[in-house]
Amino acid sequence: MTGHDTQDVSGRGIDETGGRQYGKVTASASYGPSSVTLRDNRTGAEAELPILSSTEGGFDVIDMKPLSGDFNHLKTLDPGYPHTASTVSNITYIDGEKGILQYRGYPIEQLAEQSTFMETAFLLREGELPTQEQLGLFEQEMADNADVPDEVVDVLYAMRSKHPMAMISAAVMALADENPDRRVPPHHMIAKMPTIVANAFRISRGDDFMEPDKNRPYTERFLQMCFADEDGCYESSPVLTVAMDNIFILHADHEQNASTSTARTVVSTDVDPVAAIASGVNALWGPKHGGANQAVLQMLDEIGTVDRIPEFVARAKDKDDPFRLMGFGHRIYKNFDPRARIIKEHADSVLEALGVQDEKLAIARELEQIALKDEYFVARKLYPNVDFYSGIILRAMDFPPNMFTPIFEQGRIAGQVAQLEEVVGKPDPITRPYQLYQGPRRRDFVSMESRGIEDAIGTTEDHQPEPV
Ligand code: SDX
Repeated sequence: MTGHDTQDVSGRGIDETGGRQYGKVTASASYGPSSVTLRDNRTGAEAELPILSSTEGGFDVIDMKPLSGDFNHLKTLDPGYPHTASTVSNITYIDGEKGILQYRGYPIEQLAEQSTFMETAFLLREGELPTQEQLGLFEQEMADNADVPDEVVDVLYAMRSKHPMAMISAAVMALADENPDRRVPPHHMIAKMPTIVANAFRISRGDDFMEPDKNRPYTERFLQMCFADEDGCYESSPVLTVAMDNIFILHADHEQNASTSTARTVVSTDVDPVAAIASGVNALWGPKHGGANQAVLQMLDEIGTVDRIPEFVARAKDKDDPFRLMGFGHRIYKNFDPRARIIKEHADSVLEALGVQDEKLAIARELEQIALKDEYFVARKLYPNVDFYSGIILRAMDFPPNMFTPIFEQGRIAGQVAQLEEVVGKPDPITRPYQLYQGPRRRDFVSMESRGIEDAIGTTEDHQPEPV
């Protein structure tokens, strides 16, 4: 038997263990039964674990669900999950070795070139590109539901001294409700996020809240709320609108990244999906994740001139120096991040069209060239990621660095909603990983008068954990 013969074990039924049987999951039978045999050499007990494959190739996974019965005493340990698939999804596919990113099978290059963010948001949710009529209805629904209640406006003003990501997280939470009958449908968060993000920008700089202009198309409506004067006057720029729309498309979804998988974990407790989106916003803020775009600009400003690049590259390689080359490296991409390639290509044309000169672009390009020839980065397959160039374009659009991650969230809301809708209402188990305990063994309580430093140190030293 050569290659992969696949048997379709799809089906969305509930399997005998009460777990959710995923649709479109296929077991690939190559060179024998598609399974691995797990053997506990201490007892000789063995478990057959099925191998499951994705529809797009890439890696296979071992289905750990059968690991019960004789193997209930064994769990797997994988901090940060670099070797673990947390779920099955039909939405986005990444091949990190080949630098491939697809939304519902469509390559990101084609979507960036030929689609709009509204079309892409529809595709992510519904699984197919919309007809003209479907797109029109979706865009109208997004316009009709772009408003936010007074509680959201009040929260934005109350939080105006905080980072816009904190403002956005709190504003989203102001829309969450414990009563399912009163809840905002998750996809209406695609409609409301521009109003929240743009007004976090306005209010944080001291301007007043701006109501959404429902007669403008989605991305232009966002830019109008961002940049209109207090009378609402805003002269749209097709270059700016297209560039912004493109950035939203490139950031729309990315499999089980830290913030999306956080949101899926939170919604597994049956809380309002809007609350799960707020959790995703919080996770995205981190500089190792969506906050990297702001950190990239701060890094380029700190480097200052091309001749200081070697100093910072050396620092990035120095284990004793916490400095990292922000915008470089990725958990999945061990090749160029395709989004970075697209944004890099657009950077020149957008800056030229906006009539902006930014010497930081020259520093970024030179830094990339130096790093990509340096053995440290080559050996670790560290390439520019989506955040490396995006900040340069956003700054050229007159956004300050603290608005870069909010704009990342503005694009990612489409994927967060699609991913949450993939699990909401399905009998998925609550996310609850195990741990490996290596703390003190059981011991009896020690009364206050008999506690002493030597005892404390003695009892602690008896329980030094084994290194993991
Ligand atoms: C995003 O997951 C997603 O999909 C995220 C995202 C999305 O669309 O949702 O793509 C968006 O978050 C992009 C990533 C943005 N973050 C940054 O640019 C911050 C800088 N990058 C690093 O913090 C790091 O690369 C991560 C966090 C992105 C990935 O870290 P990993 O996969 O956990 O890798 P690691 O930290 O274990 O690093 C492996 C090695 C280490 O060296 P050794 O111990 O092997 O000697 O590579 C080194 C690291 O020290 N390394 C870096 C580095 N990134 C990794 N060294 C210098 N500079 C860097 N940027």
